[in-house]
Amino acid sequence: MRRPLIAGNWKMHLTIPAARALAAAVAKAAENVADRDVLIAPPFTSLPAVREAAGNRLLLAGQNVCWEEQGAFTGEIAPGMLKELGCTMAIVGHSERRQLFGETNSLINRRVAGALKFGLIPILCIGETLAEREAGTTFAVLETQLKQGLAGITLTAAAQLVVAYEPVWAIGTGRTATAAQAQEVHAYLRQTLAALFEKNIAGQMRILYGGSVNPANVDELMRQADVDGALVGGAALKVESFERIIHFQ
Ligand code: PGA
Repeated sequence: MRRPLIAGNWKMHLTIPAARALAAAVAKAAENVADRDVLIAPPFTSLPAVREAAGNRLLLAGQNVCWEEQGAFTGEIAPGMLKELGCTMAIVGHSERRQLFGETNSLINRRVAGALKFGLIPILCIGETLAEREAGTTFAVLETQLKQGLAGITLTAAAQLVVAYEPVWAIGTGRTATAAQAQEVHAYLRQTLAALFEKNIAGQMRILYGGSVNPANVDELMRQADVDGALVGGAALKVESFERIIHFQ
C-alpha cells in the first residue's frame, strides 16, 4: 500500500517569522494523523526556522535542487545543503521552473539524477498546458516529460520516486481537474511508469495531484485509486485550509 503524502509548496512566500509560525501550526495540525506523510517545501531561507519549529512531525523539501555537489553554479542549491537543513526530498521540474525559467526535460533529468545520487527523493512535477489539453496531446506530453525526466534512472532508485501531476491550467487558477480527469491521467502515468521500470515498482511509486487542491475538493481527489497525495500551493499558506487537506477523508 502506498502511504499518502500531503505536500505544501510555499513557493516564494513568507518571511522567516511568518514561516516559523506557520510551520509550528502545521506541525500541530498534523499531530494526530499517523497514517500519512505531511511535507512542506518552504523557501530556502526559511528552512532552518521551519526545521526548528516543525520538529520531527513534518517532512521537508527544497523547492529545487542542483545536480552537483558543489561548485560554480550561481543561484543554485546543492543536495547536501538541503540535507544539512533536514530536507529528505526536493521538488524538481515544477511548471513555474519550466515556464518562467526555461527549464527543459533534459535539465530536469539532471536534477532528478543528482537528487537521487546524493540521497534526496525527487518529487518530479509534470503537466500539460491548456493548449496541449485542448489539442488532445495531454498523454503524449506527459509521456515525454516522464521518459525524458526519468532517463537513466535505475530500478532501485525509481521505487522511492514521487511524481506530481500538475496540469498547468489548474495551478493557481482555482480551476481544479475533476477527480475523474485526475484519475484518468494518474492511471495512465502508472501504466507508463510500469513500462519504463517494472509493474511492481510503478505500484510502489506515489503519484500526487496538484493544481488548486483545496478543502472542498481534496476528499474526492484522494478517493481515486491512483491519487496518492496532493501538492498544494495557495491552500498550504493558511493553516486552516492546509489542516483540512491534511485531514482528508
Ligand atoms: P496551487 O499550486 O495549489 O496554488 O494551484 C499548486 C502548485 O503549484 O504546486
